[in-house]
Amino acid sequence: MVTLTIDGRDVTVPEGATILEAARELGIIIPTLCWLQKVSPTGACRVCAVEVEGVARTMTACNTPVKAGIKVTTQSERLTATRKKIMELMLVNHPLDCPVCDAAGECDLQDACYGMEVAKQEYSALLERRPIRYDWKLLESDPNRCILCEKCVKVDHEIVGCDAIAVVNKGEATIIDTVDGKPLDCDFCGNCIAACPTGTLISKPFKFRGRPWTFKTSPSVCAFCSVGCQIEYHVRDGRVERVTSDDSTFNNGNLCINGRFGYSYLNGAERLKTPLLKDAAGKQLPAQWDVALAAVADRLKGVVAASGAGAVAAIGSPRITNEESYLFQKLMREAVGTPNIDSEACFGYAPAQRIMMDVLGLYGASATIDQIDTAKAVIILGSDLKAEATGLEYRVIKAVTKNDAKLILATNRDVKLKKYANSHLPYTPGAEVALLNGLLKALLEAGATGGEVLAAGLTGSVTDYAAVAGVKEAQLREAAKLITASSSVAILYGADVMRSVDAAGAVAAVANLALLTGCLGKEAGGLFPVDEKNNTQGMLDMGVAPNLLPGGKPVTTAGKDLWQILEGMEQGAIKALYVVGSDPVTSFPAAHRFRKALEKLELLIVQDILMTPTARLAHIVLAGAAAAEKEGTFTTPDHRLQSLTKAIEPPGTARADLRIFADLLARFQGVAATIAAPAVMAEIGQATGGLYAAAGKQAPTPKAGAAYAAPATASTPAAGSLLLVGTNMYHNGTTTAYSENNLTVAAAGYVEVSPTDAAKAGIADGAAVKLTSSAGSITAHARITAGATAGLMVMPGNFRDLPAAALLHSAANLVPVTIEKG
Ligand code: SF4
Ligand code: SF4
Ligand code: SF4
Ligand code: FES
Repeated sequence: MVTLTIDGRDVTVPEGATILEAARELGIIIPTLCWLQKVSPTGACRVCAVEVEGVARTMTACNTPVKAGIKVTTQSERLTATRKKIMELMLVNHPLDCPVCDAAGECDLQDACYGMEVAKQEYSALLERRPIRYDWKLLESDPNRCILCEKCVKVDHEIVGCDAIAVVNKGEATIIDTVDGKPLDCDFCGNCIAACPTGTLISKPFKFRGRPWTFKTSPSVCAFCSVGCQIEYHVRDGRVERVTSDDSTFNNGNLCINGRFGYSYLNGAERLKTPLLKDAAGKQLPAQWDVALAAVADRLKGVVAASGAGAVAAIGSPRITNEESYLFQKLMREAVGTPNIDSEACFGYAPAQRIMMDVLGLYGASATIDQIDTAKAVIILGSDLKAEATGLEYRVIKAVTKNDAKLILATNRDVKLKKYANSHLPYTPGAEVALLNGLLKALLEAGATGGEVLAAGLTGSVTDYAAVAGVKEAQLREAAKLITASSSVAILYGADVMRSVDAAGAVAAVANLALLTGCLGKEAGGLFPVDEKNNTQGMLDMGVAPNLLPGGKPVTTAGKDLWQILEGMEQGAIKALYVVGSDPVTSFPAAHRFRKALEKLELLIVQDILMTPTARLAHIVLAGAAAAEKEGTFTTPDHRLQSLTKAIEPPGTARADLRIFADLLARFQGVAATIAAPAVMAEIGQATGGLYAAAGKQAPTPKAGAAYAAPATASTPAAGSLLLVGTNMYHNGTTTAYSENNLTVAAAGYVEVSPTDAAKAGIADGAAVKLTSSAGSITAHARITAGATAGLMVMPGNFRDLPAAALLHSAANLVPVTIEKG
C-alpha cells in the first residue's frame, strides 16, 4: 500500500493505483475526457492535469501511478487555466456543428467545455473535411468530430477482442478507421459507440430518431442470451428506438449486437397484433380476445372430455418470464390436468442440469459470472461463446488479459477466442468424452489429487484418449499442467457438450473435471453452463419440465418429454398441443417430423410475439408481449433474478402472456385471475420451497463430499463428413431473424465449409450445396472458411429460410451428412 497526500488530505491506496483513483478514494473529482475506467488509460487529452510538489510540469492523473509521500494538488488557478487551454485547443480542430450533431445532449466534450467554462476559443485553423463513413453497417463514423481519445479503440481491442478499428495515419491526418480502410467488418456490438464521447461514432438505426432528452428510459434486462445484461430501453412515441447500458451495471455497460441492436424486431411487421382463429377454410382471421380465449378453453376441455387430459401436451418457452412459466405449468398441470409439458431445454440444458444436480448438487452455475474475471485458469469446453453468450466471452477476455488467466480452449470450431488460448484443443467432433477423459487422466498424472475413484474408472491411457479425441497427447498434458498450476479455475461448457452425441457421458465428465480441479465453492472461478436463451434456467426452476415441479421438486409420475410428445402426435395419442414462444418447425431437431405432426393435430394453439412458421399452422394464435412490453423476472444460470420494466405497450391488442395464462386459469377453475407479476412471484416463493424467496433467488450450494461420476466409455466418433448446427454470432435464437438491424449484418443462412472439403467436392465460395442427412436434405450457400475444420461443416440454426435443425434427428447437434453441388 502507498500513502500520499491529495489537496492536503492523506490517502492510502494499493501500489500501482493512479493519482486519479487515489483522488476518487477521497471523493475528489478530477476532470477527465479520454479516461474510461474499464480500459487502460490513454493519457491523450491532458484534461486531468494535476500538480505534484517538486515537479515543474503538470502530470496527467489518469495514467500517473502514485508514489509514497507525494503531494498532489488537483485545483489551482494554473490548473484551471491549463485545462481551459487544452479544451480551447481541442476545439480548434473540432467542427462546432453542435446544433446538428448526433451527439447533442449527450456529448462529453460539450459537457467538459461547459464545466470548465470554455466559452470561446481564440485560435482558428483551416479545417480539412474528412469523408464520413456512411458505408459501414449499423455504425456511422464522422472523423471530423473525433478528439482522438481512443476510447473506442480500447473498448474494441481490450473488451470485445475484435481489433476492428485503430488509430490510422499520422499528424493532422490521424483518424479512427478500419486498419485497411475497407468498410467495417466486426462484431457490430456497438460498444465503441457507447464509449465515444462525441458524435463521431453513432448508431445508424438511431440516427434522426430523436434527441436524447426526448426519450423516456426504462431500466431492464436483455432478453436474448443467458448472460442477462442490464440495459435501458429508450422509448419515444411508444417505440423502442435504442438500447444502451451504463458502465455501472453488472455487465460494465458492455453489450453485444443482439442486446444493442436486436430490439428492432419489436417494431417489425411480423409482430402478432391480435389473436387469430382459423376458419373452416383454414384461413387465420383476427379475433377478439374473449372469443379466442373462450375457444382455447372450450376446445381444450373438449379434447380432455373426449380423449382424456393425457391427449393434451404443452411446449414452454425459455423466452417468457418466470411468472409466466409458473402460471403456464400450473394451467397445464392443475387446470387442464396434463403432466405432458416440456421445452427445447430437453435437447441439452435440462438433462445436463439433472446430471449436475445428481453429481454436484447444482441447478445451474456454481457462482456468479463475475467470478470468471478473477479465475487463474479458464477452461472452455465445446462452445462458441461469442455466438452463444457473448457477455461470457467478454468475461473470459478480461480474465485472460487483466488477470493473466491461462485459457484452455477445447473446440473444433473456428472461434474468435482462439487468439487468446494458451492451450487449444481442436478435438474431433463427437469425441467430447474421449477428450475429457484424456484431460482428466492427464490431470491425475500431473498431480491432481483426490480422484482415486476416478482414476480407477479411467481405464485408457492419455495416449489412447488423445488418439480417439484427435489431439496430441502433449497438448493434453500441457493443458493439464496449466490447470494444475492455477489456484482457481473457471469451467464453461456449452452446446457442443450438452448436445454432443454422448451428452450424458460428456456432462458427467465435466462434473468430474469440476471436482478434480476444485473449482467449486471458491471466491474465484466456478462451473458455468452456457446457454443461448435468456430464461432457460428460470423456466426449469418454474417446473416447465415433464419430471420437475417448481423449485426442482420431483413429480410423482413423469409426463411425456418432447420426443414422446412428438411420437404421441405422430401416433394420434396427443391431439392438442399448446406451444408458447417456440418455433419447432424452424429450430427443433427433426423439424420436418414436427411439422408433419403439428399438421395432424386436432388443436394447435400457438402463443407467440411473432408470426413464425409454427404459428402459421395454428388453429388458434394468441398474441403475447415481448420482454420490453411487460413486467416480470428472468433468472440467469448463475442465479441472478432480475426484473423487467415495462417500457412500451404491446402492439395492437397483444397482451402480456401472464394475463393470457391467468385468464385461461380463471376460465378453467372458475376463480379470479391473478395477474400481477409480484403476486405470482409470492406464490412462486411458496411453491419452490424458498428457492425463490421474497428477498430474491437463493443459489443452491454444491453438495459437500460430492462423489465422482463413473466415467463413460469413450466411443469412437463417426467417420465422414459431419454437420454441426450452431448459432451465428450476429443472431440469438430465431428472434433476431425478425430484427432488421441484425439482418443488415447477417441476412441469410449458409453452411461453413473448410477449404479442404470445398476442394474435394469441387465447391466454390457462395455456390449452392446440398446437404443430406438421415433426417432430410437442405440446400444452402457454401461459405468457405479458412479456419474451419476439415470434415466438419457448421450451419447456423437462426434463419427462417434455412431450418438447419431439420437435418438433425435427435438432440445431438452433430449429424453425419453427405455434401454435393446443389
Ligand atoms: S462495433 Fe464492437 S466490434 Fe465493431 S468496432 Fe465497435 S467495439 Fe469493435
Ligand atoms: S471516435 Fe470517439 S471514442 Fe474514438 S477516438 Fe474519436 S472521439 Fe474518441
Ligand atoms: S444477448 Fe447476452 S451478451 Fe448480448 S447484450 Fe444480451 S444478455 Fe448481454
Ligand atoms: S483523462 Fe487523463 S489524459 Fe485524458
